[in-house]
Amino acid sequence: MVATSPITTQTDNPLQDGRKRAMLLAALYIAQEQFGWLSEEAIQRVAERLNLTVGQVKSTASFYTMFKLQPQGKYRIQVCEGLSCYLVGGAEPIINYIAEKLGIQPGETTPDGKFTLEVVQCLAACGTAPAVKVNDELYENMTFSAIDQLLERLQQEN
Ligand code: FES
Repeated sequence: MVATSPITTQTDNPLQDGRKRAMLLAALYIAQEQFGWLSEEAIQRVAERLNLTVGQVKSTASFYTMFKLQPQGKYRIQVCEGLSCYLVGGAEPIINYIAEKLGIQPGETTPDGKFTLEVVQCLAACGTAPAVKVNDELYENMTFSAIDQLLERLQQEN
């Protein structure tokens, strides 16, 4: 008698199916839009709905930087460090300036939960660099003075 061992095939992982992967990405996107980030509970619900394991959902969510596994600030500030922004003197000086003003490092959220600072590669505003995005709003030709005004305005908003 020959002992048989389980053989792992591509069909054992439902995420090998491109349609299932696309459904998962869409579900994660919607969950994040709804809750602002992907909590354990949100991941669990997505897994149940798509008949996946929590581990499969979590590993996919953690692979893509667009998915946030930690609570995000009310204002998600994205500073571009792409080449165009770098060449006009943006990028690092702007990142450092905002980091110092808010007292946080990239990837962190202020203790009051108001701001999260992120560094991204390109905001598709290379012709009007340096660029910064706050939530869905793009700010171009940024200067330290423009950043001061922007942060001041956001601080005053509820
Ligand atoms: S490189 Fe900064 S917007 Fe494209």
